[in-house]
Amino acid sequence: MSQNILNLASLALLLGTCHAKESVLPPLTVENPRTEYTTNPLGIDAVPPHLDWELKSTQRGCLQTAYQIQAASTAEKLAAGDCDLWDSGKVSSDNSTQIAYAGKPLASGARAYWRVRAWDNQNHVSEYSAPAYFEMGLPKKDDWQPGYWIGASELPLLPFVPGNPWQPTHGENGDAPVNPAIMLRTEFKLPGKIKSARAYVCGLGYFELYLNGVRVGDHVLDPGYTDFDKRVLYVTHDVTANLKEGDNAIGVVLGGGWYDMPTPDIWDGQKAPWRRSPRALIQLNVEMADGSRQTLQSDESWRVTTGGPVVFNSVRGGEIYDARKEQKGWDRPGFRDEQWKKALVVEAPKGTLSAQYGPPIKVMQTVDPVKLTTPRPGVYVFNMGQNLAGWVRLKIRADAGTTVKMKYGERLSPEGMVIQNGLNRFNFGRFQTDTYIAKGGGEEVWEPGFNYHAFRYVEVTGLKVPPTLDMLQGRVVYSSVEPGGSFTCSNELLNRVQEACRSTLLSNIHSIPTDCPSREKQGWTADGLAAATAAVYNFDMVNFYRKWLDDMRDAQTPNHGGMPCVIPWNGWSAGADNGAPSPWSCPCWGGACVVLPWMLYQQTGDIGILENNYQMMKDYTMSLEHRSKDHIISWGTGDWLEVGSTNWPKRTPKPLTSTAFFYDTARIVAQAATVLGKKEDAGAFNALAEQIKDAFNKAFYNEKWGGYGEDSQTANAFPLAIGLVPAEREKEVLASLVNNIVETRKNHISSGIVGTRFVMDVLSERGRTDVAYAMAAQKDFPGWGNMLEDGNTTFTEEWTGNDSRNHPAFTTVSGWFYRSLAGINIDPAAPGYKNILIKPAVVGDLTHAKASLQTVRGLVTSEWTKTENEIKFHVVIPANSTAQLTLPASEKSEITESGQPLKSARAVTLIRREAGQAVFNLGSGSYEFKVCNAK
Ligand code: BGC
Repeated sequence: MSQNILNLASLALLLGTCHAKESVLPPLTVENPRTEYTTNPLGIDAVPPHLDWELKSTQRGCLQTAYQIQAASTAEKLAAGDCDLWDSGKVSSDNSTQIAYAGKPLASGARAYWRVRAWDNQNHVSEYSAPAYFEMGLPKKDDWQPGYWIGASELPLLPFVPGNPWQPTHGENGDAPVNPAIMLRTEFKLPGKIKSARAYVCGLGYFELYLNGVRVGDHVLDPGYTDFDKRVLYVTHDVTANLKEGDNAIGVVLGGGWYDMPTPDIWDGQKAPWRRSPRALIQLNVEMADGSRQTLQSDESWRVTTGGPVVFNSVRGGEIYDARKEQKGWDRPGFRDEQWKKALVVEAPKGTLSAQYGPPIKVMQTVDPVKLTTPRPGVYVFNMGQNLAGWVRLKIRADAGTTVKMKYGERLSPEGMVIQNGLNRFNFGRFQTDTYIAKGGGEEVWEPGFNYHAFRYVEVTGLKVPPTLDMLQGRVVYSSVEPGGSFTCSNELLNRVQEACRSTLLSNIHSIPTDCPSREKQGWTADGLAAATAAVYNFDMVNFYRKWLDDMRDAQTPNHGGMPCVIPWNGWSAGADNGAPSPWSCPCWGGACVVLPWMLYQQTGDIGILENNYQMMKDYTMSLEHRSKDHIISWGTGDWLEVGSTNWPKRTPKPLTSTAFFYDTARIVAQAATVLGKKEDAGAFNALAEQIKDAFNKAFYNEKWGGYGEDSQTANAFPLAIGLVPAEREKEVLASLVNNIVETRKNHISSGIVGTRFVMDVLSERGRTDVAYAMAAQKDFPGWGNMLEDGNTTFTEEWTGNDSRNHPAFTTVSGWFYRSLAGINIDPAAPGYKNILIKPAVVGDLTHAKASLQTVRGLVTSEWTKTENEIKFHVVIPANSTAQLTLPASEKSEITESGQPLKSARAVTLIRREAGQAVFNLGSGSYEFKVCNAK
């Protein structure tokens, strides 16, 4: 019967009674085939790789019922249907994400071309998708034989001198050639035409690869930051077009990065256990046109110099570049390198060599400065018009030896000079400053390559001729995550807040999530977790966070299961977590290792993420259990930076947030265990969660306050949000929270970096989005709008606007925009947006809100527009997903869909109308609902 209806519907389409244009589209297509969350990745290590795709259908209510994957060793074979690697045949399955490749095992470096077609519940079969491919890297040790690492020396060229934290020689004066980049080169012949070539490179700390005079690829600051004693990342480039028959030259420049960080800071970067002089492992695999193979590897036949133009580099201090020392032609064949030394074969780093799969860091945008001022004679200050992470590109004509100093900062002194104090207070010596020494003789264009800075202003000194505005351009640099979503609404302030959230998030992803791109550049876990709750809506973050979870597993303390507060972990003793109570390693920080995998699983439905991280999640939770006393955790950092405090909270008891996080981790581990079929663990962790809940309520519930804190929004919101409040008290606790916000705080937020997301979410989950909206839209202190005063384009560290001006912890509000105002939510019972809960909130003075979100199954949209008598809702559900839509609608209001009465709307089932709401089940497709007289 239903089949007949659908056939009639298709017929209607063909006859042009619906949208005439749609009738020419094939009813079902398969798009966006990806491997390991990447389009056509090179050099992957994953065995087996996992595949996913999106379904697109012209019909509503489309669900995949089967798929067929074909894979072949060449594109031609695949096109001809000659599947020498794999033909899955027709597989009955509704799954379109994370399908394990089950074809012939692939040799290192081998490429598989694949395509997929699908069947749906409406008797359609798609054409095959466009062909996709993935290519294996060099996952086996043997692939790298002999695998020599080469460099200029074994130990750092600028070692740390204990007892002298200031180390003024570390480039403080901007002129000392003290920590050069290392240049490596060699030449080689290729005997014939080239079919394909790959370069596999790990160069620590950062490397740039050159072939025959050309910089390879568009990555910068490669490879990503890891605990180099545990894991080092190699990068694969397709260099087929860079090589030629006959003579070739290859060159690598190595900067220190986080591997050899010479500028002391209080987090002991200069004393990192892995610190050695920069080194590289390089392998070129060339397949010749005649089928033969050539391999070139790094060894002692390479040449090395420390006499190149980068005379100083430090990821904190900046760079000094003396253009007079450029070695013209060094990366081309025929260069006379007699002055260079024989490369030194050095020790391999201790870390396991692994393929880099996270999105590489790139220059993502170039911006022009908006203003140039001269606060003092010879001092020029460029204003970029926005706060950003990256650097500037300098373009000058100057006499040889002209030394141009560029000091980067986020603030100006009253006089208009760049001020760094505050930002540099935990760093010693040179800070965020680049120096360029001109070679003379024409236009010179330069940008640094081995560090990045946070800035809005650049103070330039040393010029002999006053500059023009176009002398500098801002280069915006971050991990190249794909766009994920967008949110706009009718409140202009919220739109600015949303923009600032995005800029702040993007300023804080440089292979790891950071707390700020300036003062610390550290992977503080609470900041990273808070930011993640917003970032996953705005960008495709899956591989970025999967990599950070690798870093977390590397950092977990053996035997204790503790989690340091900063990941990757460089051994900074004050923040270590050795399984004992520790002031910095708070559960609200370390607990990120439990919450983040669960959150990514919810976003993607990828069980592999849980499998890979389950042991870490469980061990960490047990480490909390061992340190708790009667299930209370009395130590921690707490709701950092709540309103009224510049560090630890005064109004929210630290044991309350620590114990609540402990409960949350136990609860999540129990849920993860259930998903993974670990029944015993699920039972044990559920029981643990119950014990914590009892202890929590005994310790923190206060009858007098009707909640858990007298004047702390976090104290009431956090327990409510995670299910710590006994059912009979929930109403009372919510009332206390609302009372505090509305009466005591006059609709202002007052929580810190741990609690803020819970305050906003819990209000929305419990029908008080109006209160949350009043706080979000607040213009004065404290609030998001207030933080953007003075023209800030990124969020400050504190609600007061103090300290760093690019801190992501309060960007959580952006996630709330998507989940609450647009109302796009994951159904915990059907993660990965398999079933989507859509519940837009029509609140306050808002007349319009729209969010679109790229999920693993395709684009989800929720948009609403309110006019005097009606509210229109536009909802798009991707094929192979379903949704439950909840619309505000009184019993009396009239509801239509695409101008039709509900009864005739396709793929729409009204489930109930009650308490001012109408609830529907929807199939996939695009819908236009209209609710007249909603109240
Ligand atoms: C960082 C943070 C971090 C905090 C922990 C600060 O210095 O910038 O954002 O979470 O320390 O105490």
